[in-house]
Amino acid sequence: MAENLPIPQEFMPKHVAIIMDGNGRWAKERGKPRSFGHRAGVEAMEPIIEACAQWGIEVLTVYAFSTENWARPKDEVNALMGLMVEYISKKLDRLHQNGVRIRILGDLNGVPDAPRRAIEGALEKTRNNPGLKYNVALNYGSRQEILRATKALAKKCAEEGLSPDNITEQDFEAALYTEGLPPVDLLIRTSGEERISNFLLYQCAYAEFVFVPEYWPDFSPEVFARALKTYAGRNRRFGKV
Ligand code: FPP
Repeated sequence: MAENLPIPQEFMPKHVAIIMDGNGRWAKERGKPRSFGHRAGVEAMEPIIEACAQWGIEVLTVYAFSTENWARPKDEVNALMGLMVEYISKKLDRLHQNGVRIRILGDLNGVPDAPRRAIEGALEKTRNNPGLKYNVALNYGSRQEILRATKALAKKCAEEGLSPDNITEQDFEAALYTEGLPPVDLLIRTSGEERISNFLLYQCAYAEFVFVPEYWPDFSPEVFARALKTYAGRNRRFGKV
């Protein structure tokens, strides 16, 4: 049940997407290695998932690892993948009990065996859950996603003798990783950076963007509530007057 809502239910976004930025800077300020920041970043996740469930937000999508992040130092990539496995083994039961349904946006085939297997287990376990739809963008890039959808539709037209002129927005949306999900209402980026970084370009067509100065490990339900208040104060017109 929704409780202690930071904004009235009628203004609550259905779909919140978050670019979790600033783990490295958070760690650096404390004289610690970047992996220390990522570990703190993982810990910051759970209260946000619980807040979404409590406040009646239907969909939460977080940017965990982009197609570009493979270019980071090998140690850091390994630490991130290891954290993912650890996170699943520690938190999956609780997420499952809370009815959270986990989905991955991105190409899981490009993910190393151990994290891929742990993730596949989590997807299987939670696939029929009725609660918060929690999407983790992993090995994800929006341009790649759009190109992949385009290829799938082109292939379908060729194979089934269909005319490309008949492709609809609905067809295109169904070919994206976010098939069946509502568009993003609110995109939050932490750490003061103000860019979209190849995240959900199509799905954010009419999203409101809220940039908060806190680094991701300091992103608490209180900071989240503040972002929601900013969002609720915006005048969304969807191209109309
Ligand atoms: C950005 O900080 C964060 C990432 C690269 C994503 C990693 C996110 C987590 C570990 C938390 C989420 C966990 C799960 C299980 C979904 P950065 O390294 O870019 O920071 P910087 O800009 O300060 O260097």
